[in-house]
Amino acid sequence: MYPLTTTAISEAYNRVRQHSETICEPLETEDYVPQPVPFVSPPKWHLAHSTWFFETFILKPFMPGYQVFDTDYNYLFNSYYNNVGERTLRTDRGNVTRPTTRNVYAYRQHVDRHMSELLETLTDPEALALVELGLHHEQQHQELLVTDIKYILGHNPLFPVYKSGHNLVDDTNGEGGFATISEGVYEIGFNSDELVTSSVSTMSSMSWADTKCICTNLKFPKLWLPMQNSSHSWKRAVIRTLTCGWTKAGRG
Ligand SMILES: [Fe+2]
Repeated sequence: MYPLTTTAISEAYNRVRQHSETICEPLETEDYVPQPVPFVSPPKWHLAHSTWFFETFILKPFMPGYQVFDTDYNYLFNSYYNNVGERTLRTDRGNVTRPTTRNVYAYRQHVDRHMSELLETLTDPEALALVELGLHHEQQHQELLVTDIKYILGHNPLFPVYKSGHNLVDDTNGEGGFATISEGVYEIGFNSDELVTSSVSTMSSMSWADTKCICTNLKFPKLWLPMQNSSHSWKRAVIRTLTCGWTKAGRG
């Protein structure tokens, strides 16, 4: 996948950027703002921060004459990039009631319009690699968007439904069963000189003491509860892990 062609990058750009907004589509304006705990960021912040990445690392250096949307946004929506200036404390992201959600969407449109113009002629391999990195970065924030929206709505006393009939879990994502991993030493992670994001592990080795079995699809209580009566030698470890979660959820 690396490096992508200009055409593929343009298509990916439109697809990835749209998906962030699709995730937020069911939200009301008020849902974009809260930060119930420090490790949750407001959806508005994710939308703006992922946009700030493209403005800061692509448009400013690679598009001559580009005018930033708002000079305050570098401070408001930088996360941990020390070399591009001061930023809002992570714990204060929920205090950023202004700019409004509407302004953040206008910011996205402004950046998307200029990115689209730039991508028509962009051939610099370094710039294209940075665009791809920005897309991976936005996808990482899409995962955070989903978990943070879940936290925000789950801590609203009314437990508002994200989207009627919506289910993030695809319970048809496999035929079930277990994959066997034989005893041995395995290399895991990413072994390359290419640029990687913080979400990618670099190579390491792991020694498996014995043969393992990994379930090939997602598991739900109705599927793992019967394990309690099974005679498999691995059942205790599995049940112990699941029990911790079950107890923490107050159901044990
Ligand atoms: Fe980020």
